[in-house]
Amino acid sequence: MRSEKEIQYLLKAADAFRRRLIVISPDLQILASNRSVENKGQEQVVGLPCHQVFYDRPEPCLNCAVQKSKETGRPALQPKPEEYVDLEKMPCLYAYPIYDGDRVEAYVSMDYDLPVRGEIEEKLQSSNALLRNLIMSAVDGVIAADKKGKILIFNNMASEIFGYAQVEALESLNIRDIYPDQGAYEIMKMLRSEHYGGPGKLCNYEADVVHKNGERIPINLNASIVYEGEREVATIGFFHDLREMQRIKAELEKTQLQLLQSEKMASLGKLAAGVAHQLNNPLAGVTLYTRLVLEDYPLEEGARKDLQRVLEDAERCRDTVKELLEFTRQTRHLMRPQDINRAISRTIFLLENQTLFQNIIIEKDLDPALPPVYSDIQQLNHLFMNILLNAAQAMGGRGELRIRTRHLPEVDRVRIEIADSGPGIPENILPHIFDPFFTTKEEGEGTGLGLSLVYGIVETHGGQIEARNNPEGGAAFIIELSIHSKIAEGTTGE
Ligand SMILES: Nc1ncnc2c1ncn2[C@@H]1O[C@H](COP(=O)(O)OP(=O)(O)O)[C@@H](O)[C@H]1O
Ligand SMILES: [Mg+2]
Repeated sequence: MRSEKEIQYLLKAADAFRRRLIVISPDLQILASNRSVENKGQEQVVGLPCHQVFYDRPEPCLNCAVQKSKETGRPALQPKPEEYVDLEKMPCLYAYPIYDGDRVEAYVSMDYDLPVRGEIEEKLQSSNALLRNLIMSAVDGVIAADKKGKILIFNNMASEIFGYAQVEALESLNIRDIYPDQGAYEIMKMLRSEHYGGPGKLCNYEADVVHKNGERIPINLNASIVYEGEREVATIGFFHDLREMQRIKAELEKTQLQLLQSEKMASLGKLAAGVAHQLNNPLAGVTLYTRLVLEDYPLEEGARKDLQRVLEDAERCRDTVKELLEFTRQTRHLMRPQDINRAISRTIFLLENQTLFQNIIIEKDLDPALPPVYSDIQQLNHLFMNILLNAAQAMGGRGELRIRTRHLPEVDRVRIEIADSGPGIPENILPHIFDPFFTTKEEGEGTGLGLSLVYGIVETHGGQIEARNNPEGGAAFIIELSIHSKIAEGTTGE
């Protein structure tokens, strides 16, 4: 038996203990407690349920140490406080059974050391702050939403992609609003399926999302469902804006096409120059001697007709050769600052009197503030002549030609647009029209060299040319020339 004094000491020792020490009945009523409990502001705790007094929970704690001890008949020790992610869910630290003979009469239990708990909360808070910072400053748009679609997280990049301020998104945006039509529903379906990166996941999915102003934005999405146990509680998505990448890709494709075209032109140029020179002399011989025979000999009508035909065909060959030589011209270029508007007007003046142009209305919209362009005037005349001739031919000599010039100060270029009201260029031949010898015209009507000559001229001037069909019909050629051409004066044009 303990002496009275010994009992007094034990009681004092319990009170001196800085942790909360309680004796709890098997049905979780507090039977006794040390002073530590009273010191924390709870005067009268005996008779009250422990979970209510210590954790403010109407129901017993989820991992109650006393319950556990009751089930196993052994002392119950809970995981260390560090192991609890959710501090709100912590139960008492341990429960030891107190026996009355063989029967468990009560349990002695102790809570977590409160200073320790405070420290953990602080740690958790600071790691939460770090997580928050990471999410907010991520390079992708990060959006999390609860099951009803209410936005829980909306980071800075999301604001940039979607155009909503963070507060605005958290208060009034629904996740369904950022997808077009049934987009959100489709994505949920894929998330729940196991075929798009595993159940609850959606990997590398490309789709359009909707900006606040209604604009569609292409994105790459990685998303997942957030579970609590088995239950879906939220979704989180990482949105990567694809606009910049798509722009670069388009630019690259365009450059590659241009490179290909230049390559073709260069090799053809070399070949054509040689062939043209070789053909020139024999052709001159054929025409000369045919003429002589026609003039000097009395011929039957049939023979005369045939020879006339030979002469015409030989002359056509000569014209083609002439164009070929022009195309691969080895002469020196005279690069000077030139007035493009004047060059256009001069070409039009030359063409206007041709029968082909009699029934064509020419509409000029020339920028009066067009700066001079460093260029070769003769080549520019060739360029405009070829495009205007093609247009007139396409329109069958009847229609409308619109010529527009503009200064593009931000890129130091001038833009020339020549549009016609003809049938336009069929989409399948559009990629080939600049190819040498490509023509859709009858034999004798076209050589297929006009536009390749045009292409070569634009290129020697460091510019770009593009052909397209206007939505209202007809073809349009758009030429951009750099004001300060990179080609120095006197450089050969090969
Ligand atoms: N304004 C236009 N409208 C419709 N098709 C055009 C136009 N300009 C050019 N084309 C097409 O491009 C082809 C190539 O033109 P080009 O190189 O000048 O050769 P050519 O005029 O000798 O046929 C033409 O045969 C024609 O099919
Ligand atoms: Mg032509």
